[in-house]
Amino acid sequence: MPEPTVSPDIPEPVARRAEALRKALHYHNHRYHVLDDPEISDAEFDRMMQELITLEAAHPALADPGSPTARVGAPPLAKFATVRHAVPMLSLDNAFSDADVVDFDRRIRRLLGTEDDIRYVAEPKMDGVAVELVYDGGKLVMASTRGDGVTGEVITENVRTIRAVPLMLSAEAETAIPQTIEVRGEVFIDVAGFERLNLERAARELPVFANPRNAAAGSLRQLDSQITAGRPLKLYVYGLGNAVGLEAASHGEMLDVLARLGFPVNPHVRSGLDLNDVLARYRELQEMRAELPYDIDGMVVKVDRLAFQQQLGAKARSPRWAIAYKFKAIQETTTVLGIDVQVGRTGALTPVARLAPVNVGGVTVSNATLHNADEVERKDVRIGDTVLVQRAGDVIPEVVKVLPSLRTGDERPFHMPETCPSCGAAVARIQGEAVTRCVNVDCPAQIKGKIRHFAAKGAFDIDGMGVKLIDQLVGRRLVRSYADIFQLDEASLSALDRMGPKSAGNLVAAIQASRGVSLARFIYGIGIRHVGENTAAVLARAFGSLDALLNADADALAAIDGIGPEIAAAVHHFFRQAENREAVQRLLDSGVTIEASAARAGAGLAGKTFVLTGTLTAMTRQEAKKRIESRGGKVTGSVSRKTDYLVAGRDPGSKLDKARALGIAIIGESELENML
Ligand code: IVH
Repeated sequence: MPEPTVSPDIPEPVARRAEALRKALHYHNHRYHVLDDPEISDAEFDRMMQELITLEAAHPALADPGSPTARVGAPPLAKFATVRHAVPMLSLDNAFSDADVVDFDRRIRRLLGTEDDIRYVAEPKMDGVAVELVYDGGKLVMASTRGDGVTGEVITENVRTIRAVPLMLSAEAETAIPQTIEVRGEVFIDVAGFERLNLERAARELPVFANPRNAAAGSLRQLDSQITAGRPLKLYVYGLGNAVGLEAASHGEMLDVLARLGFPVNPHVRSGLDLNDVLARYRELQEMRAELPYDIDGMVVKVDRLAFQQQLGAKARSPRWAIAYKFKAIQETTTVLGIDVQVGRTGALTPVARLAPVNVGGVTVSNATLHNADEVERKDVRIGDTVLVQRAGDVIPEVVKVLPSLRTGDERPFHMPETCPSCGAAVARIQGEAVTRCVNVDCPAQIKGKIRHFAAKGAFDIDGMGVKLIDQLVGRRLVRSYADIFQLDEASLSALDRMGPKSAGNLVAAIQASRGVSLARFIYGIGIRHVGENTAAVLARAFGSLDALLNADADALAAIDGIGPEIAAAVHHFFRQAENREAVQRLLDSGVTIEASAARAGAGLAGKTFVLTGTLTAMTRQEAKKRIESRGGKVTGSVSRKTDYLVAGRDPGSKLDKARALGIAIIGESELENML
């Protein structure tokens, strides 16, 4: 084991303990996320992680991007840097039939000038996003996307958050750690992770991802790696760029070495195959396809011997030694039980085909968006129709087409309603736009959508404020605008269905706790059209304060890197509307405070003074005090102008009123936990 570098201000036992914890955490992370064979309980893992976090917090000189604690995400970037790949990242030629593969084999033998059988490796073709990981001296130093093959984007902080990516390479007895290696592979989201992610997004009325590949690509391209950290990304590696100090004669051997170094290699890779084995393996994989927990769109065939690969070389875009044998899209037929119309928070009416549930390649498909009225008309989808649905590489689930020959005559055409299905108000379709909207600002469906968005994780993150509760609150007119949330008290909440005094108390505490937000969350929460989490973070960083953003003119907005003209116009328009400015002002009047972003990002608490009030649930006051102090903060007993944060637990006392009167940031336990 290498000696830990002991910095003068770290006591040696601390440095040793941190090193031991890091080593153990890397090892157990690998057992869990790469080998799928954990040795210890999650609780034990969490305990070690907590100990390391505490040590690193108390001794900032221990900071190290290779530490297992680095997987939670780093401060957001303004934009991605680009990097030129040392060796271009090529793509693959496609084969669509056995005959194409036979041709490929014939070509290889001709180019190599041999009559002998060639040995191949067959790998599942993962349907994700290609990445390159660069390790220097065994440490992950950079990760990038494929980009145009020559230049990619640097996404190191995002890739660090993927549990299956080794941050440090593990040295086993016979495997020396290579000096420099560029490892290539595919980042993906499995089907279960994808479905969970979309359910969560649908509940928050965020646009769902069309397929796991889009979800993986979107997650990797986040400027804020803390968002990436919350996405279920996985990795399989399948190749190398430059490699100094890695010995292997064949592709199969190289993958074995990579596995020993700690990289996840797909267990369905087969090497040493001749042409017939390759064709047989294609059928096997096709059979397995529906049962695999992730999407594959074909099989990659590669010449096994590395010396042959070198000799064969590459054409402009693709190597001569590999080919992708693609699968056909998976399609199934089912019937359209109905076409529902959903009203989103912007008032958009979306027709959704309700389908008789059908299993398409391992995923149960029970509805498919029909986007808008034009789309329904173009495809001529009618209620009762038998339709072909597919989840293919890029479009899932989708109604491919109607099978008109199976019509009985009982099918009913769909018409976009002329009134909003939620509030009954008239709907409007602006000329030239495909979308029909409900224009009633008091439409309950829109208000519900807005409140759901406001209370959701990336926004004000109000614990316990779920869909059903919001339906009741809006339905009973207790909440019509964001600020109304902060007027809710235990008495009004206790009157709701399934709401005892205890849950009412918890909810009030959670609402109190959500009053302190970062500027980015505030901007995201108020639901400006086209402004997602990413854009909100960009705006927060560019303007620094709500006032500056409120008063920005369209040019100032459009001048920001990462803000296109459409977003600039939407933001400008939003803040020109009197009702939106009023809603924002009412929020501030009801005690919502915007925190300095450094504290939110979890930077040190040096110089910050905290006061605690009410009952804390996740930790004792004593513990909270200790943890704040270990990060350089101070805890005092009473609120004064010098107080930076009041931490409000359940049943907060008069300190809360005083803090409010003085305009001091009020945070809840979960906010405190975040800062810590
Ligand atoms: S090898 C020079 N192996 O397919 C060889 N690629 O169409 C380049 N892919 O960009 C890639 N699974 O994103 C290789 N087992 C696998 C793969 C794989 C998925 C993707 C990769 C690449 C694309 C090429």
